[in-house]
Amino acid sequence: MAKNDIVIQTKNLKKSFGTNHVLRGINLSVPRGTMLALLGPNGAGKTTTVRILSTLLKPDSGDVKVEGYSVTTNPDKVRSVIGLTGQSAAVDELLTGRENLIMMGRLYRLNSKSAKARSEELLNEFDLVKAASRPVKTYSGGMRRRLDLAVSLIATPPVIFLDEPTTGLDPRSRLVMWDIIRKLMDRGTTILLTTQYLEEADQLADNIVLIDGGKVIAEGSAKQLKSKLGKDRLVFSFKNLSTLNSAKTTLGSKVQTTDEENLSVTLLAKGDGSDVGEALKVLKDKKVPIASMDIHKPTLDDVFLSLTDKTKKTRSK
Ligand SMILES: Nc1ncnc2c1ncn2[C@@H]1O[C@H](COP(=O)(O)OP(=O)(O)OP(=O)(O)O)[C@@H](O)[C@H]1O
Ligand SMILES: [Mg+2]
Repeated sequence: MAKNDIVIQTKNLKKSFGTNHVLRGINLSVPRGTMLALLGPNGAGKTTTVRILSTLLKPDSGDVKVEGYSVTTNPDKVRSVIGLTGQSAAVDELLTGRENLIMMGRLYRLNSKSAKARSEELLNEFDLVKAASRPVKTYSGGMRRRLDLAVSLIATPPVIFLDEPTTGLDPRSRLVMWDIIRKLMDRGTTILLTTQYLEEADQLADNIVLIDGGKVIAEGSAKQLKSKLGKDRLVFSFKNLSTLNSAKTTLGSKVQTTDEENLSVTLLAKGDGSDVGEALKVLKDKKVPIASMDIHKPTLDDVFLSLTDKTKKTRSK
């Protein structure tokens, strides 16, 4: 197959629960070996999309394919190429971590020896060796998440769905998880990940799709989204209130916001940086001394908030 072929695809995917039209025509397309991050506010339909793609739920309509297999006409084939880490852990509480892994390996038709070997590998990779012989009910939330992801990797599937894999993890475990996910990507795995953490999408994903109100409301790389929707902000700080006030007068309508507590003013910057020089020159000409200057890049949070806010407004109209 071509190197950039599409591994995960939905065309005009629709799904309603009664009168709740959760997905109203979603188009997704994930090329081989890349990661798509699916973002959206609570209830946007991220888990619903993942459940449809992993054959746990039937779509109402639309064309949904994984590795070229339709989830409706060829669900067994789809299941044979995917791994899934659900939003709620799907491991057996009474079994030990090791037993869970081996059992899942056997379900994926590994022979007993390979299932054991692969389980030890994963226990190692996920830092669960010490806890491996304890029943899962004694595990902490973070350990469960790690075991859950390990279980979904037992058969090294080429396609993986990760539904909020790092929710509830402490910052350190989140970094460990990112490392593991990066290793999967290095291996060429195609991944669809949902997350509430925009920074996570920023760090890991090749592409981001933002859904809200049942529709895709934005997509692109983190960089594209940020540059399309957020502008750089220029922040000048001053030593005291009187210089701050002179700066305000000098810069006039260029000033977006003033922060008297931090003695700073914020200006919106143009992409080419020309107005940074311009503002500096004006202040220098008027002999207004600057204490410090900072350029704030827009964050994905800015983008997310501005967009989901907009759809909320149109919906309530
Ligand atoms: N089996 C179901 N029966 C009825 N309604 C459902 C069912 N599953 C999901 N929903 C509804 O569909 C909508 C989308 O839910 P979904 O779990 O896909 O959201 P999400 O984007 O994953 O949200 P979160 O960020 O909270 O995980 C919600 O309004 C939810 O109540
Ligand atoms: Mg969800």
